[in-house]
Amino acid sequence: MKKLFSLAGAVMLAACTHLPDVPDPTPEPCDPGIVDFTNEIYPMIQSNCAMSGCHVGPYPADGINLSTYAGIRAEVKPGDPNDSELYEVLFESGDDLMPPPPMAPLSAAQKARIRLWIEQGAKETNCAGACDSTAATTYAAVIAPMLQANCVGCHQGTNPSGGIRLTTYAEAADAVATKGLVDAVHGTNGRALMPPAGQMSDCNVALLERWVRAGMPQ
Ligand code: HEC
Repeated sequence: MKKLFSLAGAVMLAACTHLPDVPDPTPEPCDPGIVDFTNEIYPMIQSNCAMSGCHVGPYPADGINLSTYAGIRAEVKPGDPNDSELYEVLFESGDDLMPPPPMAPLSAAQKARIRLWIEQGAKETNCAGACDSTAATTYAAVIAPMLQANCVGCHQGTNPSGGIRLTTYAEAADAVATKGLVDAVHGTNGRALMPPAGQMSDCNVALLERWVRAGMPQ
């Protein structure tokens, strides 16, 4: 997207607004087992750490801004998760634990993916084919993992963002029917753009719309 702006346009835009620095390296094929930073680790961190009031913006918590690859990379020692702040804080106690209570801690599976990503060198990977736009769009196969990666960090627990939980089929279907979820993934018709850090990939948006058109199969 950013590359499409003319230089003059880019300069004018930069002068009046700060474009979110969303990572967009060209997708490349990844070897099996390589952790996908762009499609997996980045959305996980955006929805669990870089929400409003936390690690984002001009005055982020503790001066640590996790809304860009560079910001995330600064908290990591490639190859050494046990010496990486980003990983260590997931296991702290009390006030040092991240995300801080009452936010839900990351799951064991999410922690393991961050650990493996650091062990593999903490690279800005963007794996081609991470999203299959022809996939059969059932909730279980496609939508649940998409919402888990991109939305659930904020939309879970007893005090979810916007009062909307997105952790079960019933909650997701209700958000489509009554909370404008489809408009929100475009930021249209008066709905706030979701995720706030920037629109999901075109492929994810297309899959979500296809699922809704198909009557939201489970
Ligand atoms: C970083 C935290 C965060 C993430 C990630 C996030 N949301 Fe939200 N969401 C919010 C907040 C905060 C609000 C309420 C604030 C507002 O209305 O501006 C909200 C509101 C919404 C709304 C209501 C919008 C409206 O204007 O009425 C919908 C629908 C929604 N989110 C869906 C999603 C979906 C779907 C995803 C993932 C694709 C997602 N959200 C990811 C924080 C988040």
